[in-house]
Amino acid sequence: MVQLRLPPNSRIQKGKTYPSPTKGPRMKVFQIYRYDPDSQENPRWDIYEINLDECGPMVLDALIKIKNEVDTTLTFRRSCREGICGSCAMNIDGTNTLACIKHIDECKSDIKVTPLPHLYVIKDLIPDLSFAYSQYDSIKPWLQSSEDPPPDKERLQSKEERAKLDGLWECILCFCCSTSCPSYWWNGDKYLGPATLLQSYRWIADSRDEATGERLDNLEDPFKLYRCHTIMNCTKTCPKDLNPAKAIGEIKKKMVERVG
Ligand code: SF4
Ligand code: SF4
Ligand code: FES
Repeated sequence: MVQLRLPPNSRIQKGKTYPSPTKGPRMKVFQIYRYDPDSQENPRWDIYEINLDECGPMVLDALIKIKNEVDTTLTFRRSCREGICGSCAMNIDGTNTLACIKHIDECKSDIKVTPLPHLYVIKDLIPDLSFAYSQYDSIKPWLQSSEDPPPDKERLQSKEERAKLDGLWECILCFCCSTSCPSYWWNGDKYLGPATLLQSYRWIADSRDEATGERLDNLEDPFKLYRCHTIMNCTKTCPKDLNPAKAIGEIKKKMVERVG
């Protein structure tokens, strides 16, 4: 179920309907969440009918078509259009995913599109990620070493050491996982959430990093790490097929190992 943080006393009401100017055998209806804080109006659902024979195959293609040809006020983030920048993360048909790699044909009936759930909404499909980024910043997401890098080459790792980063470095920080996590919904002010914890483990697992102890100390807290109850929504929703729940489990294992 889609849950949104809306302004106080607001209700999502029915908005405008935009029929397609052309018809064809492949018509699709997009129901899109609209919210403009400057208008002082409640959020609304606008309905757009799209002729798929005149549209690219992805949900992002439909959003761009709407913005270019139907309603220039529709607001959303996007950049790479190939699943590597993470900026087009949103909730499509009840699942957090990337609009640029979500095929329209995968969605059976009308397509409902909302911002990532449980975040404040800046406008339309744009959530406020400021706090999530400040949490990411708190884990010091960079390599920490007392030694300068060699002047003429990279810091080296064995193949085995490098392999430990697979499944971690691919994370594009889209926050689809964190915003699908019930623990993050309810305790997101203190719990770091799966995206930031996966990133934290990415540095803990890096043989070149010397701050493992400090990184684990920083997570030794009733909320930052231990609010994960292995519900696994994060892993189910990750559009890059990563496993944040496993990364969180690995951090917990490290915590136990250093005590025992
Ligand atoms: S783990 Fe997956 S869902 Fe979470 S931020 Fe990284 S890429 Fe996005
Ligand atoms: S496994 Fe942990 S991080 Fe993932 S959804 Fe569940 S509680 Fe959230
Ligand atoms: S536009 Fe970059 S991930 Fe979708």
